[in-house]
Amino acid sequence: MQTQANKLQELVGAASSGEAASRTKFIAITSGKGGVGKSTISANMANILANNGYKVGLFDADIGLANLDVILNVRIDKNILHVLKGECSLNDVIVPIKKNLILIPGESGDEILKYSEQFLFERFLEETKVLDDLDFMIIDTGAGIGEHIQLFLEAADEVIVVTVPDPAAITDAYATIKITSKTQSYIHLILNMVKSEKEAQLVFDKINKVAQANIGNGLKLNLIGKLPEDKIVSKSIKQRTLFTNDAPNSLASLDMKRIVNNLVYKLERKVLQSDTNKSFGSFFKRIIEQF
Ligand SMILES: Nc1ncnc2c1ncn2[C@@H]1O[C@H](COP(=O)(O)OP(=O)(O)OP(=O)(O)O)[C@@H](O)[C@H]1O
Ligand SMILES: [Mg+2]
Repeated sequence: MQTQANKLQELVGAASSGEAASRTKFIAITSGKGGVGKSTISANMANILANNGYKVGLFDADIGLANLDVILNVRIDKNILHVLKGECSLNDVIVPIKKNLILIPGESGDEILKYSEQFLFERFLEETKVLDDLDFMIIDTGAGIGEHIQLFLEAADEVIVVTVPDPAAITDAYATIKITSKTQSYIHLILNMVKSEKEAQLVFDKINKVAQANIGNGLKLNLIGKLPEDKIVSKSIKQRTLFTNDAPNSLASLDMKRIVNNLVYKLERKVLQSDTNKSFGSFFKRIIEQF
């Protein structure tokens, strides 16, 4: 009989027996204001990467209302916190979504760190080896500038701030950028629910101008892409499907693919510079050690 661990390995690709350092890229998706499309973008970004043959994990660090399990239409009852406490194994909480794509139900940084004293960390690190084969871990962080969200952002390879073009969201996006700039000198922006490329560029220029004037410090902001406000996106969310599956040739899907291409291109250019161990285990270690 096939064990769940076997199935999981099959899904994410059997880990090689060697001890080669994992090269998982950690992409954190965050925002200042809530409800701007982080979870929608995280799930669809992961879907496109998986379709392109990458092995992808989606980590839900946002325990809000419309979580990734709702968006992906799967049921979860245990999460990473139960694993860290030793109440179940990582294999028990991982949800296979499709070929190359798994969901790891997370917890907010607050919850994880609240229990950090009692974590059975060695065992956890051992278990996370099953994830070492992932090419990408997309982390949906939740909104706001809480210090525990910052831990995820600090530990990530790339941080993507999502905003919509309304003034309140822009102000909050700026606050997120300002705080994140203390640990990341390169921050991506996605402008969601814009009317045009031009609007996206105008809003980006505005944020960038204020950031360069008030933060400076070598900060580089990159407009990695935009998404239109599109009924197909909200319809898919209601149906608990992914718009990049439902309408792969829609403008929204084409924009989403462009974002993914830009991200992959950026990361390929960075690949030679970093050779540190980037496993899920070491990612978590970085988060907890900062506490
Ligand atoms: N480009 C878009 N076009 C139309 N509707 C969109 C678009 N992006 C997001 N939405 C809608 O906005 C709502 C919020 O999206 P989502 O849940 O992804 O935001 P979030 O940033 O993850 O929210 P939270 O901060 O609560 O976690 C959803 O109902 C979704 O359907
Ligand atoms: Mg969300």
